[in-house]
Amino acid sequence: MDLLEYQARALFGEAGLPVLPGIVARTPDEAVAARAHLGAEVVVVKAQVRTGGRGKAGGVKLARGYDELAEIARGILGMDIKGHTVEEVMVCPAAEIAEEYYFSILLDRAAGCYLAMCSKEGGMDIETLAVERPEALVRLPLDAHTGIDENVGREIAARAGFPEEDHAALAEVCQALWRVFRDNDATLVEVNPLVKLADGSLSALDGKVTLDGNADFRHDWSAYHASSGETELEKQARALDLNYVHLSGSVGIIGNGAGLVMSTLDVVERAGRDLPGSPKPANFLDIGGGASSQVMANGLRIIMSDPQVRSVFVNVFGGITACNDVATGIVHALELLGDEARLPIVVRLDGNSVEVGKAILEEADHPLIRIEDTMDQAAATAARLASGL
Ligand SMILES: Nc1ncnc2c1ncn2[C@@H]1O[C@H](COP(=O)(O)OP(=O)(O)O)[C@@H](O)[C@H]1O
Ligand SMILES: [Mg+2]
Repeated sequence: MDLLEYQARALFGEAGLPVLPGIVARTPDEAVAARAHLGAEVVVVKAQVRTGGRGKAGGVKLARGYDELAEIARGILGMDIKGHTVEEVMVCPAAEIAEEYYFSILLDRAAGCYLAMCSKEGGMDIETLAVERPEALVRLPLDAHTGIDENVGREIAARAGFPEEDHAALAEVCQALWRVFRDNDATLVEVNPLVKLADGSLSALDGKVTLDGNADFRHDWSAYHASSGETELEKQARALDLNYVHLSGSVGIIGNGAGLVMSTLDVVERAGRDLPGSPKPANFLDIGGGASSQVMANGLRIIMSDPQVRSVFVNVFGGITACNDVATGIVHALELLGDEARLPIVVRLDGNSVEVGKAILEEADHPLIRIEDTMDQAAATAARLASGL
């Protein structure tokens, strides 16, 4: 889960890292009020969207007078940055920047460890720097138990070529960012730029934090979820521990295993292409292994309460969970749902105990269930039903 800049900077502040004050505004008037509250002559208006490169896209601008501020805020609010609509801006005092650095900690999946990266040449072109002069970007694998202590922090500063007199302060910053990373179960903490101000002090001007969704259970991240643009159905699904993403189409999808569900989305998309209204997948839903009747019922309920859904495609490959268990699950789920089950359900089973599974469904003879032999046939049927044919 990606955080917005102001949320990331709040975590930096809590960990003892110097950050400039900032106030979030949703209208030009609120931006003007924010400036008055900050008491700053010159402010920076920053789009709050979950993507980088806001500066280059015109989403970070300096504003001097109140009129200029209102105009800039009006321009940035509602702007589209790489597919993200700006709904909020942060107003912060303009910093007098002497130097811009880059610092990050991330989970290096390929190497199976944490990695710290640092460069004396931070700012908006770090991606170019990483490609053209990789030696200017220091990479230091971290021991997960130690993380960044004072010694490691000093080593990072030294390797990145900072002068000796800066090592102590930089080591403090690196340690604070390690605390942010560790204590919040992050997979990425990035500061670009970390700046040296005119008075010689350091400050994190930008912040990017990605939290590990698997650690959700041991944090209270409700505020982050609330601001993440999660739909009502996604919220309900999360409460039921379902791996669900709402999409825009009309064919509800349930499958076991993320890979199978992804390919199911593809075949449904293809099957619907030439049909009236070009029906598309309505969601991603992976019920994982061990699909109990309850999980199946929860999944079907979420999908069927989506008003745009017109047919449901259940695509299961029996592995550890055999097809007969899945079939029993579907039948029980329909009993649990009663009148709430209102849409045709196209079922494709394959793999472990497929014949027994199909026999269970045939015997149940439920008016909503249709069995198909292959994934392509099932996708075609589900798409056809969704297009009203
Ligand atoms: N408070 C500020 N005062 C002065 N300049 C700023 C301030 N915040 C950002 N900038 C400048 O704008 C650039 C882009 O802002 P940043 O927050 O890094 O957004 P992004 O990385 O999405 O482009 C920074 O590299 C910095 O030079
Ligand atoms: Mg930046």
